[in-house]
Amino acid sequence: MAKQIGFFDLNTGAKIPSVGLGTWQADPGVVGNAVAAAVKIGYRHIDCARMYGNEKEIGSVLKSLFEDGVVKREELFITSKLRSTDHDPQDVPEALNKTLQDLQLDYVDLYLIHWPVRLKKGSVGFSPENILPTDIPGTWKAMEALYDSGKARAIGVSNFSTKKLADLLEVARVPPAVNQVECHPSWQQKKLRDFCKSKGVHLSGYSPLGSRGTTWLKGDDVLKNPILNSAAQKLGKTPAQVALRWGLQMGHSVLPKSTHEERIKENFDVFDWSIPDDLFAKFSEIEQARLLRGSSFIHETLSPYKTLEELWDGEI
Ligand code: A2P
Repeated sequence: MAKQIGFFDLNTGAKIPSVGLGTWQADPGVVGNAVAAAVKIGYRHIDCARMYGNEKEIGSVLKSLFEDGVVKREELFITSKLRSTDHDPQDVPEALNKTLQDLQLDYVDLYLIHWPVRLKKGSVGFSPENILPTDIPGTWKAMEALYDSGKARAIGVSNFSTKKLADLLEVARVPPAVNQVECHPSWQQKKLRDFCKSKGVHLSGYSPLGSRGTTWLKGDDVLKNPILNSAAQKLGKTPAQVALRWGLQMGHSVLPKSTHEERIKENFDVFDWSIPDDLFAKFSEIEQARLLRGSSFIHETLSPYKTLEELWDGEI
């Protein structure tokens, strides 16, 4: 029997499973096995994106899982994201169609604008000459049409600062259901979290383990943090489990990535225990640092974002 898992409410009335499998940097060749293992363990949420280059393989595994009766489509929550090269309102419907075709699905449960950054259509990589000024209100209108069509059962954004989310809420007919952002004990997103809560936007945390192993990320290994490790030791859990459980207790969904079955299992064992108040309070003392800074989108002359301050509106 599937494990009893948690959910959070979305402003659409739908529920989002509190733990989802991350698929960023889960390479073709291994991502399929990871998804199959996760679903068999009990995961009901898979976080995908066209930019990750692996949706085709995920699609064929989902098809087998449905055909074999392991899970039903309606039991799964599938997220995907609009690439920065597809921000032109004319390109948005086709981008989702391509994702649906690759995933072999009729709809996604959640479709997000991946970054508040627009790149030239068809361009590859993030070189500054490919960056164009954004028109988030225009792109969002096209996202709203996908929501109306039922092909995206909820729509939202990713990597939006508090200000960018506030600006979008000012013009949105359909308010974003989710803002998916980096979030872990060493980057807790206090300001954004409070704002999301006040507006009924669900915060979803990517890199909940600090994306260890991503060599180009600067900063300390989140899982080695002494406060986290001391809590883990007292609770008899691993630092990864405590980092994830911390996220759930903060009220956001978490999207740990692993391509190893043992870790996929470990990361899902976070429902039948909790971090007691005294240990939980200690997490507010952890030094804060954003790991995924988006430096590739910064350029003094070619990008609309001249500095990291501008990209993140000071939340850096
Ligand atoms: P792997 O995929 O080889 O298991 P994040 O979800 O924050 O992006 O972190 C993903 C990184 O953390 C990957 O390098 C992943 O490695 C590793 N990882 C996933 N689960 C665990 C775990 N339970 N303990 C330690 N490292 C983990």
